[in-house]
Amino acid sequence: MHIHSSSSPSNPPKTKSSPKNPSRISSSKMAKNVEPPIKEIPGDYGVPFFGAIRDRQDFFYNQGREQFFKSRVKKYGSTVFRVNMPPGPFISSDPRVVTLLDAKSFPTLFDVSKVEKKDLFTGTYMPSVSLTGGYRILSYLDPSEPNHEKLKQLLFHLQTSRRDRVIPEFSASYSEMFDALESELATKGKALLNDANDLAAFNFLGRAWFGTNPTQTELGQNGPKIIGKWILFQLAPITTLGLPKFIEELTFHSFRLPPFLVKRDYQKLYNFLYQNSADLFNKAAELGISKEEACHNLVFATCFNSFGGMKVLFPNVVKQIGQAGVKLHQLLAEEIRSAVRSSDGKITMGALEQMPLMKSTVYEALRLEPPVPFQYGRAKMDLVIESHDAAFKVKKGEMLFGYQPFVTRDPKIFDQADAFVPDRFVGEGEKLLKYVFWSNGPETETPTVKNKQCAGKDFVVLVARLLVVELYDTFQVEVAPFLLGENITIISVKRAAD
Ligand code: HEM
Repeated sequence: MHIHSSSSPSNPPKTKSSPKNPSRISSSKMAKNVEPPIKEIPGDYGVPFFGAIRDRQDFFYNQGREQFFKSRVKKYGSTVFRVNMPPGPFISSDPRVVTLLDAKSFPTLFDVSKVEKKDLFTGTYMPSVSLTGGYRILSYLDPSEPNHEKLKQLLFHLQTSRRDRVIPEFSASYSEMFDALESELATKGKALLNDANDLAAFNFLGRAWFGTNPTQTELGQNGPKIIGKWILFQLAPITTLGLPKFIEELTFHSFRLPPFLVKRDYQKLYNFLYQNSADLFNKAAELGISKEEACHNLVFATCFNSFGGMKVLFPNVVKQIGQAGVKLHQLLAEEIRSAVRSSDGKITMGALEQMPLMKSTVYEALRLEPPVPFQYGRAKMDLVIESHDAAFKVKKGEMLFGYQPFVTRDPKIFDQADAFVPDRFVGEGEKLLKYVFWSNGPETETPTVKNKQCAGKDFVVLVARLLVVELYDTFQVEVAPFLLGENITIISVKRAAD
């Protein structure tokens, strides 16, 4: 597939590794075995209630989330500090967190011997379980809870048993998407990627995992819209929709949206998976999980974790590559086409391994804009947490929090940390993959039933790679702010000539 148009050459991709090897700088800096001084954690929560409202308004309106963190790092001269995280009153019972914003302190959040991950997938509040059939879903379970292992096992089984369907169904769904975009461009002169991507992503998941195209069920073309609404009911307290501040503050930032408003729509998603998961229910029974609990978990994994992730990640990948300029598009096209040619013209796992620039480009997009930006964990015991330059005492029960996009742009680890450097992870650069944390763990580690690393880690990397393979030529994108991810306008789509 060839997406073609002129692209700005003003920001050419970096094609040679920087002379300053970032992995070496970081290891020498971090290897010094000098105990850093213990410091008081800077920052304060302000007066109860009012402090939380003040921080929430800074986060959403006065500063915006990047500035919210940046200004505090500057003010306190520290990447570890205290602050309140939204939503606060009246949704979270306690919004106070200790923020970890560097690549040394942040990984504390992955260590389940030190932090408890119960009911904090969305942060200092938990959405009503009425939105998930009355069940606490896997993402909210701590590994110490018996169902965590069983449900994660079920999701691993889902993925391994459907492994062979991923590449063909991805190609089928995304070819359809590009064909549709091509005709939309021919008639309208421009085409929006986001809605088309949403439909392709959901159809792909339905076909690959449940053997059924959701558009041919009662969901029709509405699957993505229904999921978007259902996700909004869960994330509204930590989202801004661009409405006037007083409206947002007096409604969904302070009170939960009533789950019954989305119940009928949710039931349609549930029915779709219930009717197409017979073999998975057998596996669930073996593991000791009821059909209902398994099905609500499958809905969440498919619609929230997977669809929600692809909805944010894919437009980001397209945007980053689109903005990087023509040179990168040429290099990717050459690398991808040549690897596919050597594999008898087929996209295979082996062929993907022969595409080092493509692989690095995907990791770089995941580094620069990790699709799930917030991580939380509650200290299980008194801890000493080290940043690059100090150590801090945290008490048992305190909530730890990290804003990941800040952490994966840590200048002590990454050279040109704020820039999109497509070949950053090629060759020697692979050593830096241990600082890529999008999956709630280092990219060099593996999700298990004992940890809280993303159950779909390998799947996500695979589908993002397949997307780039489908796009392997030059294109131009326009980017406008959007609720979840970015709205991308495609200017031109043409089939590759080779
Ligand atoms: C772009 C796509 C995705 C991103 C960015 C992403 C990111 C994450 C993150 C950051 C967490 C940890 C959250 C926390 O506990 O703080 C997580 C957990 C999880 N993810 Fe993903 N994810 C993606 C796709 C998927 C897919 C495709 C699946 C399908 C199986 C999946 C299933 C899960 C599950 C089940 C958990 C909880 C794991 C556990 O309880 O041990 N995710 N994901």
